[in-house]
Amino acid sequence: MDRITLTDDLSFSRIVYGMWRLGDDSDTSPDHVRAKIEACLDQGITTLDQADIYGGYMAEEIMGGALTPQLRNRLEIVTKCGIVAPAGRHASAQVKHYDTSRAHIESSVDHSLRLMGIDHIDLLLIHRPDPFMDADETGAALDDLVQSGKVRAVGVSNFRPHDFTLLQSAMKTPLVTNQIEMSLGQVAPFTDGDLAFLQERRIAPMAWSPLGGGALMTGKGGHGPLRTALAALAREQGVDMAAVAVAWLLAHPARIMPVMGTNNINRIKVLSDAAKVDLDRQAWYQLYTLALGREVA
Ligand SMILES: NC(=O)c1ccc[n+]([C@@H]2O[C@H](COP(=O)([O-])OP(=O)(O)OC[C@H]3O[C@@H](n4cnc5c(N)ncnc54)[C@H](OP(=O)(O)O)[C@@H]3O)[C@@H](O)[C@H]2O)c1
Repeated sequence: MDRITLTDDLSFSRIVYGMWRLGDDSDTSPDHVRAKIEACLDQGITTLDQADIYGGYMAEEIMGGALTPQLRNRLEIVTKCGIVAPAGRHASAQVKHYDTSRAHIESSVDHSLRLMGIDHIDLLLIHRPDPFMDADETGAALDDLVQSGKVRAVGVSNFRPHDFTLLQSAMKTPLVTNQIEMSLGQVAPFTDGDLAFLQERRIAPMAWSPLGGGALMTGKGGHGPLRTALAALAREQGVDMAAVAVAWLLAHPARIMPVMGTNNINRIKVLSDAAKVDLDRQAWYQLYTLALGREVA
């Protein structure tokens, strides 16, 4: 499994395993969660993606219950903060909102550390751009968290380029990634400037919902001809359709890190198959054309 260098002392596995759906699994026992993490590690997938809000503010605790110090030392743990929804410890919130204040970020990080039972977070992301953000306050809070050692690196998620440059302008520490939605079901970032902005800065993006949240696999969102082509390529290359859809992201020169979300242990065991798939320029464009629903101009 390839690795992506984010800072001098932090690198991620090219494929990341995400925990948004962890609490939806019928088995959330520590043994089962550990088995999923170990299935990732067996393939060189060492980076796990979390957020304070996942599972109604419960997913970090479920994962924490499965971690041992030995296991934690083999992992890079990403988590996010900034969304306040009326659930769990934020049940009293009157309206779903974003909070990028220093007090909220610091309190969220302390909760994340305690719930996961760890002494540092490898990467903290601001989950969504906050239209009420005071960039000077947020930037200083992120700088101070890195300085304190509670967080090794910081980044953002779902930020447009202008949101990114605003926050970065108020910080000393570099923002090391932007985690955005990107897949054959969401191709806008390939042409709307979001990916180009990160490439220009040599910042490797993370791609959430790389299988369109499953729609590319189940056909629930349509995608008939695209799914037929994915299935044909999968047969040719001896892998499953998911591997081909993820290989389409891996083939792009932006060094995209797909964040996979399956809870199915058999699917987890073959996540690294995507790295075996060979897609040349024409195969990439064949899938892109089907995703667009038209030939390129
Ligand atoms: N930053 C953000 O705002 C943001 C937003 C959303 C997600 N994320 C991150 O991205 C991660 C991945 O998101 P995601 O779960 O939507 O990713 P995904 O990998 O695109 O979708 C996973 C879903 O697809 C289903 N699936 C996978 N392979 C399948 C197959 N071969 N056939 C049928 N269904 C299949 C899974 O069901 P099974 O479990 O049954 O396999 C699961 O429900 C999350 O865990 C989270 O870490 C971040």
